[in-house]
Amino acid sequence: MNKKLFPSIAFGLLGVIVAGGAISSCVKSVAGGDDKDNVEARIEALLSQMTIEEKIGQLNQLTGTGANPQRLAEVRNGFVGSLLNEVDPDTVNKLQREAVENSRLGIPLIVARDVIHGFKTIFPIPLGQASSWDPALIEEGARVAADEASSVGVRWTFSPMVDVSRDARWGRIAESFGEDPYLASTLGVAMVKGYQGEDMTQPNTMAACVKHFVGYGASEGGKDYNTTWIPEPHLRDVYLPPFHACADAGAATFMCSFNDINGMPTNADTHLMRDILRDEWGWDGVMCSDWNSIGQLVPQGYSADLKDAAEAAAKAGVDVDMMSYAYVSHMKDLVEQGKVSEKTLDDLVRNVLRLKFRLGLFENPYVDTANARRFYTEGNLAAAQHAAEQSAILLKNEGGVLPLKPGVRVALTGPMMDAKHDQNGTWSFDAEKEHTVTVLDAFNDMYGKDKVVAAPGLTYSRDTDKAGIAQAVVKARTADVIVFVCGEEAVLSGEAHCRTDLTLPGAQKEMLKALKATGKPVVSVVMTGRPMEINDVVANSDAILYCFHPGTMGGPAIANVLSGSVNPSGHLPAGIPRASAQAPLYYSHKNTGRPAEGMVLMDELPQEAGQTSTGCTSFYMDCGDGALYPFGYGLSYTDFSYGPVVLSTDKMDAKDGSIRATCEIENTGSVKGATVAQLYVRDVVGSLCRPVKELKGFEKIELAPGEKRTVSFTLTPDDLAFHNARSERVTEPGEFRVWIAQDSASGESKSFTVE
Ligand code: NOJ
Repeated sequence: MNKKLFPSIAFGLLGVIVAGGAISSCVKSVAGGDDKDNVEARIEALLSQMTIEEKIGQLNQLTGTGANPQRLAEVRNGFVGSLLNEVDPDTVNKLQREAVENSRLGIPLIVARDVIHGFKTIFPIPLGQASSWDPALIEEGARVAADEASSVGVRWTFSPMVDVSRDARWGRIAESFGEDPYLASTLGVAMVKGYQGEDMTQPNTMAACVKHFVGYGASEGGKDYNTTWIPEPHLRDVYLPPFHACADAGAATFMCSFNDINGMPTNADTHLMRDILRDEWGWDGVMCSDWNSIGQLVPQGYSADLKDAAEAAAKAGVDVDMMSYAYVSHMKDLVEQGKVSEKTLDDLVRNVLRLKFRLGLFENPYVDTANARRFYTEGNLAAAQHAAEQSAILLKNEGGVLPLKPGVRVALTGPMMDAKHDQNGTWSFDAEKEHTVTVLDAFNDMYGKDKVVAAPGLTYSRDTDKAGIAQAVVKARTADVIVFVCGEEAVLSGEAHCRTDLTLPGAQKEMLKALKATGKPVVSVVMTGRPMEINDVVANSDAILYCFHPGTMGGPAIANVLSGSVNPSGHLPAGIPRASAQAPLYYSHKNTGRPAEGMVLMDELPQEAGQTSTGCTSFYMDCGDGALYPFGYGLSYTDFSYGPVVLSTDKMDAKDGSIRATCEIENTGSVKGATVAQLYVRDVVGSLCRPVKELKGFEKIELAPGEKRTVSFTLTPDDLAFHNARSERVTEPGEFRVWIAQDSASGESKSFTVE
């Protein structure tokens, strides 16, 4: 890869300008099993034989309509280069045969699908997987998804979504890895590796598509498709790093986002897609539009018509037009009129052909029908269950109500206790709900059907019909402990499913109060697509297990955690708000000139209190400041003590220094458990205000009771760099603070200076 680096080392008052910035130092070509030069030569050979219509056809992506005569003709005539949403292997083979054997040049199709958190075997939603803080687990989940989906001919998935998501109103937070760029980078890279494998020509791999490029998570007001305002230094510090990391890890494709940034729609943004992605990062993959996102340049008020939009997108470097027909309708004219150069067109086509070579589709275009439909294997189900277990987050456990004691009589209730469809979460197009194992199924299995006292109380999460609550309460009274499985249905999060009220919908809050009034201990299991406002849940529950929609095997995973055969170790990838209206909420905020302190809340204010009586610092009068449960938070059935941070030196050379930060961690409880040691850094004074903390590393470790281990992280000047007002990546001299802690809100820091 041609990596054009940022300006080379220049040390001065402004600090050190450093290159790169992605977390992965391993820049791997995505040439798959085929040699890179050979691929380029084959591309050129093919390109030289193509008509302009055939070239444009390669850029055209259409949704599946089956192998009907019209579609077969479109494929035969080279009108379409890729298809999304075909998932029947025989149909895929028919269409592919038409492309390979009956089209003039025999260029294979690529079949794509939104395989976001599993194909048939559904894993926890990405936000749930992120709660595991376990890159290996995420890679394994993507591997399983690739194996299942490729077995029907899907060789391109529109995943991972690495949009940094700090606004829980935005439904798409469900599809993200949460609020932090470092976590999203690490987990995004793991997912790319899982999908693409070591050698992408292997028929059981899929090309990853890293989306949405870029800034989509900043949609104003948490409303989908909305505009964003992101200054370039902030874009480069927060929103771009996960994309950069995935590009460096060899991600084969990207997708552009629906939003504009500062008025410039991403689909027309040459600076983003050419200057940064291609020239600075040296990436040579395929940039795909989102669904009709080229066409949307018209309603966005950027392009006068579809032809104008096609011109803007082609010039900016969108290679594939998903479902707006802009290129097939207008590209020929644009080239003939000299508005889009032939070179520009050829470059777009080169990228698409490169992907087809990299996937080995020319050699191996067909689905092996004898080995098709590899779904729900024992191994795949076990991997999904493990992922759900590792993703469950224990938020509260008063009086040690969890794990459930052997022999305890449990009343199971709540609208999500047996929600076969909703447990799978958003983007589970190919899930078959009869395969979902719910909490009720798992309890029946674990305790025996006749022993489980169960009544849902409400039929679904938005249910306001309270008729069933009384019966659930009567049953609950006969038990020793109540397990209330509540939350949000799948349809309340995901694309276009944004909310302003993040509390439990329907009559769930009322139902929980009624359960609490029985006087029995209440364990709430919150199954949801986002961080919700859960003050009512906290007030009325003795214990809370937070599980982002956990997928096919969510039931057994939750039952194992509740019963204690699995010790919870999930940690929040996004903070739980005190109030919905706090959004956007993130731990890595700026300090402000008046950080929250001495807060006097409105309930404490006397009548006719004076103008300055709240203390004039930065907080909300009705809920204070910060998250209710912060980023990185998660309890265990054991306890961990974190010793002081020890630094290898108190000075770091700004050019080529490094510093080691260590911390001894002990399991001080009585059972084996895992903790996530999190490394945070603060740049105390910067030429632009710096966040109060930034995650720079983490490690999940498992310790036996009484066992101690020292975790160790190395920081270099590059880890401390940020983008200054001129968007240069710099490490500035001065004081830095370091924490190694169990979450973003705890621990004591140590300081060092960069000189
Ligand atoms: C729209 C979504 O924004 C994108 O994430 C998805 O991959 C495409 N539709 C294709 O379904």
